[in-house]
Amino acid sequence: MVLSSRVGQQIGAHDSDLILDVGCGVGTTSRLLSEQFGCRVVGMDVSSANAGDALRRSKGNDRVSFLAGDGHGIPASDKSFDGAVLECVLSTFQDKRAAARELARVLKERGRLGMSDVIVEGEIPEELRSPLVDAFCVGGALSSSEYRGLLEQTGFRFVGVEKRKQDTLDFLEQIRRQLFVARMLVGVHKLVLDSQDLDYVGRLLSLAKEAVKEDRLGYAVLIAVKDGQ
Ligand SMILES: C[S@@+](CC[C@H](N)C(=O)[O-])C[C@H]1O[C@@H](n2cnc3c(N)ncnc32)[C@H](O)[C@@H]1O
Repeated sequence: MVLSSRVGQQIGAHDSDLILDVGCGVGTTSRLLSEQFGCRVVGMDVSSANAGDALRRSKGNDRVSFLAGDGHGIPASDKSFDGAVLECVLSTFQDKRAAARELARVLKERGRLGMSDVIVEGEIPEELRSPLVDAFCVGGALSSSEYRGLLEQTGFRFVGVEKRKQDTLDFLEQIRRQLFVARMLVGVHKLVLDSQDLDYVGRLLSLAKEAVKEDRLGYAVLIAVKDGQ
């Protein structure tokens, strides 16, 4: 199952909900949630180019809208959303605590928060924290207990974490296949890439797979509810 669908399911998204998708990128999750669950979604991204692109890709879907804005200071009034989702976003934030407080502020009482993100449990090889792997949100990833602590200290009741080991292994396998194709194309001179770079990516993939198998790394779905106390 696509992680976004699982996030939507876990927050119980439904047609009367207004959901905020923070760090929406080009709006893939926003569109999926509105189409699968019938909710209205406001996608927000710090990049106005992304927000514009998301809008262009969503022509004909009047349940989604997009705006440029920073998750550390969301341009929305208090208690305006029934739910919020963040996919591979919180791990990339400089100040996760400020962002979590902002989420609590813009959610209604008992508003639901759903995130899919990378979780790191204990030690992983330093190479997996390299800028190249940052594209996969590993650099700033926390452990599940650190996420729990962060949310509990910023106005949420932590509901649970669902580790998505098989989804993570499938994702790594997809990259491995793409790497294989890239090597073939380089071999027949249809693509110009440094074979040392390809070897390095291959090594990172092996390290990541090992860490996933040992439950030290992987995607997870995290759910919390704004604490009404
Ligand atoms: C790894 S991408 C994930 C995009 C999308 N959620 C997805 O799953 O396809 C992270 C996104 O967060 C956005 N972002 C980064 N920092 C942000 C911030 N402070 N406030 C809002 N969005 C931010 C980036 O522009 C990027 O689109």
